[in-house]
Amino acid sequence: MPSLVVIGAQWGDEGKGKIVDYLAPKAEWVVRFQGGNNAGHTIVAGGVTTKLNLIPSGVLRPDTRCLIAAGVVIDPEVFAAETAKLREAGLDLSPRRLVVDRDAHLVLEYHRLIDAAREEARGANRIGTTGRGIGPAYEDRANRSGVRVAELEALGQLRPRLEELVAERNVYLQAVLRSEFSVDFENVWRAVCKAAELLLPHIGNGSLILDRALRRGERVLFEGAQGSLLDQVHGTFPYVTSSHTISGGVATGCGIGPKHMGHVLGIAKAYSTRVGLGPFPTELHDQLGHRIREAGVEYGTVTGRPRRCGWFDAVGMRRAIRLNGIDSLALTKLDVLSGLSSIKVCTSYRLDGNVLEDVPSLSQDLERVEAEYLELPGWSSDLKDVRSWGQLPVELKAYLEKLSEILECPISIISVGADRQATFVAESASEILAFIR
Ligand code: IMP
Repeated sequence: MPSLVVIGAQWGDEGKGKIVDYLAPKAEWVVRFQGGNNAGHTIVAGGVTTKLNLIPSGVLRPDTRCLIAAGVVIDPEVFAAETAKLREAGLDLSPRRLVVDRDAHLVLEYHRLIDAAREEARGANRIGTTGRGIGPAYEDRANRSGVRVAELEALGQLRPRLEELVAERNVYLQAVLRSEFSVDFENVWRAVCKAAELLLPHIGNGSLILDRALRRGERVLFEGAQGSLLDQVHGTFPYVTSSHTISGGVATGCGIGPKHMGHVLGIAKAYSTRVGLGPFPTELHDQLGHRIREAGVEYGTVTGRPRRCGWFDAVGMRRAIRLNGIDSLALTKLDVLSGLSSIKVCTSYRLDGNVLEDVPSLSQDLERVEAEYLELPGWSSDLKDVRSWGQLPVELKAYLEKLSEILECPISIISVGADRQATFVAESASEILAFIR
């Protein structure tokens, strides 16, 4: 099996970085295919914590190469800071090891300003974006005015086009969004010239690289960012991000055919979290929600915002399984639930007395649904010394079995702590085992 697709199955922050790092040692490539530095992937290895926003989570594995594919939007300043930090930590980030696709778009200063000003203008109706300019950069891609990495090779042609673009964006910022800020073109230009110096050695043709690698039978791991319920089209619109976070995004984001996609692994926490605004049917507003937030350190990696916490939502998960064609699930942060006498799983939504077949399309309906729960016995023991699937408490094993039955999806990986050592693969998960052995 040449490829593994790792996808967030909830609203992001499921622990994708950690699982990708775990699965990566034998992968030739780890590929980010969408999103940008709105993502925050945390890896703990040997007591050292590494936080990544743009660079694929395979970077800590010395034999793995990293590709930032065409579907990603790249903020060159973040790229500069992150690569500098990783180099300081002694990692090899040579152009051979880190490739940036020529067709990826750049996030520039005006995107960040427009993101912030638009959120401000929305007031109570804001999305709660990460403020990193991701939405405006994807908008520019869609309206065909965005700046691509390849254009850094033709700065002479880019300059007049960008000058016009900046003037236009300043009018939008000030006249439409009533922002007090505007952008100085020379500043943007300096940033673009610096980006050229930085990115050009890494530039490559991701579609060609991956097609060749996959035809040779090399192992490729596609690393999703954000989560399925934040997908631009299929998520809980309008409280979504601006890219395709689902497995379909691999083909469009990388420029490869869907037949190259192997096992699709959905990553989910044993409970739910959400950052930013938007409906959240299983949200816990009480002391228990607070307890989960503190025990799980549920604070945004990118913005530091406290994450909203709630019970596991099997209705949303069944949707994610379908949207992605998930073959199996990795369930993370089970340790956070230790010590609870019972654990709830939302099995259905009821709206105006009717049980719904799926997550409703309108956010005002999703706000109103009543979550119906199944209550399962919790486990009291601490999981910090658990080092294999066999050592799990019986109640936890029963919980996993029940969840898998409700979801009609096998659970192939579990994780019970932040460190690499705390992740276990089920012996029955032959495709995953073949990828890592
Ligand atoms: P944007 O991607 O910054 O435009 O934000 C849109 C929505 O996606 C907001 O609700 C963000 O909180 C959410 N979001 C974006 N990236 C992440 C992530 O990596 N984890 C969790 N939520 C995210």
